[in-house]
Amino acid sequence: MDHQLIGNHPSIQKIRELIRLVSDTALNVLLLGETGTGKEVVARLLHTSSPRREKRFIKVNCAALPLTLLESELFGYEKGAFTRADKFKPGKFELASDGVIFLDQIGDMPMLLQAKLLEVLQSGEFARLGGTEVVKVNAWVIASTNHNLEQDIREGRFREDLYYRLNIIKVELPPLRARKEDIPVLSEYFVEKYRKEFESTNHFQLGGLIREVFGAYHWPGNVRELSSTIIRLMLGDEPEEVKSELLANMVADRISVPNVGTVAEKAGEAEEQAKQGVMSLKAVKADAAQEIEKKAILNALEVARWNKKEAAKILKISYKSLFNKMHGHGINIKRRF
Ligand SMILES: Nc1ncnc2c1ncn2[C@@H]1O[C@H](COP(=O)(O)OP(=O)(O)OP(=O)(O)O)[C@@H](O)[C@H]1O
Ligand SMILES: [Mg+2]
Repeated sequence: MDHQLIGNHPSIQKIRELIRLVSDTALNVLLLGETGTGKEVVARLLHTSSPRREKRFIKVNCAALPLTLLESELFGYEKGAFTRADKFKPGKFELASDGVIFLDQIGDMPMLLQAKLLEVLQSGEFARLGGTEVVKVNAWVIASTNHNLEQDIREGRFREDLYYRLNIIKVELPPLRARKEDIPVLSEYFVEKYRKEFESTNHFQLGGLIREVFGAYHWPGNVRELSSTIIRLMLGDEPEEVKSELLANMVADRISVPNVGTVAEKAGEAEEQAKQGVMSLKAVKADAAQEIEKKAILNALEVARWNKKEAAKILKISYKSLFNKMHGHGINIKRRF
């Protein structure tokens, strides 16, 4: 798996900066975005950019297992905990100790387990199934989903309190169609990557036709779909054929198919905007640092119901330091619910 976050769109520059700022804090991170937008790339980058990089990165797919299996997968079990538990097995939380536990597809976690996870995150400890020994949580919790969690909360499928607890730092990955100016640089990156992987000596190039269609297409599968489309082309699929397929997808998804001239113009405009984005990188960085810190503080205060001692614990800073930071950000010290 590749851990490069390619792209120059301001949103991606901001995420890069956020990774830099958050990676040595181990604050809970929630990654949101459509399928294929790079959530796992960001999770792995957080790990490799952090002091935890030598420790494990453990991914748990919360959608893949039914409730009881997922529970034992996360928290482990003692010998004899249930019929087939013939020996002790540590859970992923324990295996990820001092490293990262990546709770992938958290939006699909069964409600009952959401309650247990919340309890574990609140207390910072748990017991293995069938056991009494207390195990401390030392893993950095990074969660991810392509669901709209706020809607899931409204519809009773996701616990609001767990959402706030995971959401101390929120990273929203934009869909590819919202940052089309990154398509050329991503395309080049994938061509180069697969040229190496296929050990190809051919000098493959994306033709003008394909570039225009790429610029017009809505990319419902986002960067993953771009990458697989490029593989197909490199393996010899006809550009004409790929083009008609993409256009057919657009029709099926009721996206209007623009004429080619306007596409080229739009791409030009987007590239111009991207250049401006690059120039303001310094400003983006300074802003991002302030914004991220303030948001994290407000989120933690909310989770802690404005109990500052508790909030400082969530933020892994001292009470005094929280107090100073609140002051610095103009957050009302006395606010209460
Ligand atoms: N900005 C990026 N730069 C380089 N590669 C990327 C980028 N974003 C995504 N990718 C690549 O696209 C593919 C999908 O990314 P990833 O697995 O992180 O998506 P995801 O958001 O976790 O999707 P899902 O919700 O389906 O799990 C991966 O192969 C990843 O390497
Ligand atoms: Mg993923």
